[in-house]
Amino acid sequence: MSKATRILRLASGQPDPNTLAEAAAVLRRGGTVAFPTETVYGLGADALQPEALAGIFAAKGRPLDNPLIVHIAGWEQAEALIAGEPPPLFWRLGRLFWPGPLTLVVPRHGRVPAAVSAGLPTVAIRWPAHPVAEALIKLAAVAVAAPSANLSGRPSPTTAEHVEVDLAGRIDLILDGGPTGVGIESTVLDLTRDPPLLLRPGGITREMLAEAVGEVAVAEAAGSGPVPSPGMKYRHYAPAAPLRLLAGDEAAVAAAALNELTGGRSAGLRIGLLASRQTLRAVAAGGGRPGWSFDLGDRRDLAAVAASLYRGLRQADAQDLDLILGECFPEAGLGAALMDRLRRAADMQDNG
Ligand code: TXA
Ligand code: MG
Repeated sequence: MSKATRILRLASGQPDPNTLAEAAAVLRRGGTVAFPTETVYGLGADALQPEALAGIFAAKGRPLDNPLIVHIAGWEQAEALIAGEPPPLFWRLGRLFWPGPLTLVVPRHGRVPAAVSAGLPTVAIRWPAHPVAEALIKLAAVAVAAPSANLSGRPSPTTAEHVEVDLAGRIDLILDGGPTGVGIESTVLDLTRDPPLLLRPGGITREMLAEAVGEVAVAEAAGSGPVPSPGMKYRHYAPAAPLRLLAGDEAAVAAAALNELTGGRSAGLRIGLLASRQTLRAVAAGGGRPGWSFDLGDRRDLAAVAASLYRGLRQADAQDLDLILGECFPEAGLGAALMDRLRRAADMQDNG
């Protein structure tokens, strides 16, 4: 595959009418456009054009049985994708959290091609809270199917440069709106189950959802039994070097890191450390010298850690490391989504 990929920069991440008009035209004629959302960059195409959808799967090397999220920027646009009356929780959650990092799985209308949802009778819908994404969807006046704009199996992109590294030559256009804010993908909630089933933790936390709707069930990550969300079975976010997670409080994480670094040095290993500022300081103070390190930010600021995680994982891949040590964070709130991504990056490797 070789396409001429154009890159258009938006000054200070704001929508510029001429640039957006070009991007909207590409979408309308069935092309592929990478654009910023508040979570990660998405690779968009017209959700109602089957050939356009094929372009997304081909560019990413994405398995055809992994369904896409359809992005909208208006209530009527959302309703048109849903079979029958939207479930009551759709309205309640949409009003509370849209635009925002929440994806709602609902019954799919017959006008939405089965390819969007990999043949499932449902469709995942999200109204993104990013001025560029919203303006683009409104101007194109099409629902935009968009997975994260990475090659399948790589971390989701949080900058246009990440998209370029993975997809240049494979897509039509990249809109560079600067780094994304949340840094990890949206929460995915299946509203066709009772109680609603949390398929992927994200920026809208389980606690926030439970407060809004009462009971929320949580999907088991991996293992036997039917897979509630096809995306759950795929290898995700896996760095090239093995990733070992260090659990515990601040002192325990630093002690474990020092221990690993000492052992690694005598074995001649090059070890990377992906950790909070506090841990990096404590390790340095204890005489630990990792071969590479990445500062995830303040340990008490999980939003900052989430925003930098994928950049850290991508940088780790550019190093020649034998092992990456990764810090664990408390599981409450956004911590659940953060630990979900870290565990996938670590576990997927053990399972091959
Ligand atoms: O924040 C995000 O959600 C980003 C931005 C671009 O919006 N998009 C994103 O898309 O992360 P993607 O394709 O990387 O992840 C979509 C997830 C997958 O795990 C997929 O299996 C699940 O949503 N999904 C999509 N449609 C579904 C459906 N009908 N039923 C169950 N799960 C679905
Ligand atoms: Mg993805």
